[in-house]
This record gives sequence, C-alpha cells and structure tokens, in this order.
Amino acid sequence: MSVVTLEQRGSVAILTLDNPGKLNALSIEMLDGIGAHLDALEHDDAVRAVVITGAGEKAFAAGADIGHMREASVEEARDYAALGHGLFARIEAFAKPVIAAVNGFALGGGCELVLACDIRLASDNARLGQPEVNLGIFPGWGGTQRLPRLTSPGFAKEIIFTGRHVKADEAKAAGLVNHVYPLAELLDRAVAMGEEIATKGPLAVSTAKRLVNEAMEGDYRDALAREQAAFGEAFGTEDQREGMAAFFEKREAKFTGR
Ligand code: COA
Repeated sequence: MSVVTLEQRGSVAILTLDNPGKLNALSIEMLDGIGAHLDALEHDDAVRAVVITGAGEKAFAAGADIGHMREASVEEARDYAALGHGLFARIEAFAKPVIAAVNGFALGGGCELVLACDIRLASDNARLGQPEVNLGIFPGWGGTQRLPRLTSPGFAKEIIFTGRHVKADEAKAAGLVNHVYPLAELLDRAVAMGEEIATKGPLAVSTAKRLVNEAMEGDYRDALAREQAAFGEAFGTEDQREGMAAFFEKREAKFTGR
C-alpha cells in the first residue's frame, strides 16, 4: 500500500501522507511518493490545486525519518538532503497552487514541507517547529531559508535555536500559517480554498505564483521588471479577454487556461 494516497475532490487533488503509526515521518519512500503523484498531477487539466495533509488526527508529519538518519554516513545524509531539497523546490515550482492542511505535528522536515507549500492552513491542535537541534543537527531541507523569509529572521532564529513547538495561534500571529480551523473542518476548508482558486484563470494563478516566489529570491528590482514583462504578456491570452469581458457582462468568467 502506498504511503501517500491520492483523492480527487472536484478540481482539487488531496495528497495524504499515510503512515500515522510513525506520525507520517518523511521516509525516502514518502518523499518519492509525493514526487510521483506530482508528476502525474502536473499535466492533469482536471486538477487545478493540490492539498497536502497527514493521515490521522495527530500529525501532518513529525519530521525526516530519524530511523534512517541515525546510521547515515556523510554521503547518505547529503543524498537525503538533496532528495528533500529537490522535492520541495519542485513543490515551489509546481505550476498549480499547493495548500498545506496542517492537521497536528509539523516538525523538522514536516515543517519544512509546510514551508515549501504556497498557502498554509492549520488545525487548532497543530504544533509546528524545527526541533533538529535536539538531535544535534539543524534544518536541512530549506528551513533556515524559508522560515525567515516567511516569518522574520528573529522568529526563525528563536524557533530553530530553541527547537520549541509553536502552537497554531502563535504560528498564525507569526505569519507561519494563514488560518486556523477546528480539526474537523480543516480539510474541507483547504479543499474549498483550492476550489475557489480553481475558478480563476489558471495561467494567471500560475504566473502569479512564480512571480511571488521570485519576490523572495535574488534582486527584487529584477523581479519587479519580470512582473512588468509578464503583465504585458498576459494580455496575449484568451483568459484575459474572457475575464474582462465577463466583468462587464456581469457573469462568471469561463477560463480555459489558454
Ligand atoms: N522519524 C521516525 N519515527 C518517528 C518520528 C520521526 N521523525 N517521529 C515520530 N516517530 C515515531 C516514534 O519513534 C514512534 O514509533 P514507535 O511507536 O515505533 O515507537 C511513533 O512515531 C510515535 O511517536 P512517539 O514519539 O511515541 O509519539 P509522542 O506522542 O510521544 O510524541 C512527538 C510526538 C512528535 C513529540 C515525537 O514523536 C517527536 O518528538 N518526534 C520527532 C520530532 C523531530 O525531532 N523531528 C525532526 C526530525 S528532523
């Protein structure tokens, strides 16, 4: 049985990390499973958004697989870091929005997976953190870079240096998650957000995702210039014409992604 399951609800694909007995720890098999599903979903026009969540009521993912890391050599640890970095970069570059539905512990690599998603929604029992220092290591799947960019350098340093768990409300106040919901509502809320995004122009959403990502990297003046250029190009699409025609005709737009 796969450790990552796929369910489609309307235009939204739900990927569930499914090894609750190990709190959905991100084994190599789990990382490969997410990647394989993304390969299939990328070119599936019926899917407009992806939600990632964890099986069970306790954890989204309690981190990288400590069982694997315990005996890892320097080379094996490098390979494991590369695997996580590769997957999380792929999520960031994925042409469709990826929403994390954080249903419990999201620690270490689990928190780093959450950081790589576009939008983060949490249940009220969620606990996020980067406790790697307790194991004598530090975040190695992007946490040292994405956490300060998303929150603030001071918050990120506190969380990474102390390894403490952050409750959902504090995570929201820090900008680490967008919204907090009762656990029973979380997945429906995430799917509803995915469905709302699915009604918009897919090219516009995908380009906006790339541009926002670029805002956080490199020289922001270059990124502003790229936004300027991409804005012009958007006016060569059918979606732009349809969206603006629908506005004046006071009807819902029918976007085709062309
Ligand atoms: N890797 C491998 N196995 C893990 C794991 C991880 N990151 N996190 C939890 N597990 C396993 C435990 O070993 C345990 O397995 P067992 O039942 O075979 O003994 C099972 O998942 C349940 O975890 P347990 O620790 O018993 O649950 P708990 O409710 O007492 O504590 C946590 C929950 C999340 C606080 C605790 O599991 C924890 O601290 N996990 C590690 C978090 C971490 O350091 N992550 C960073 C890794 S880079």
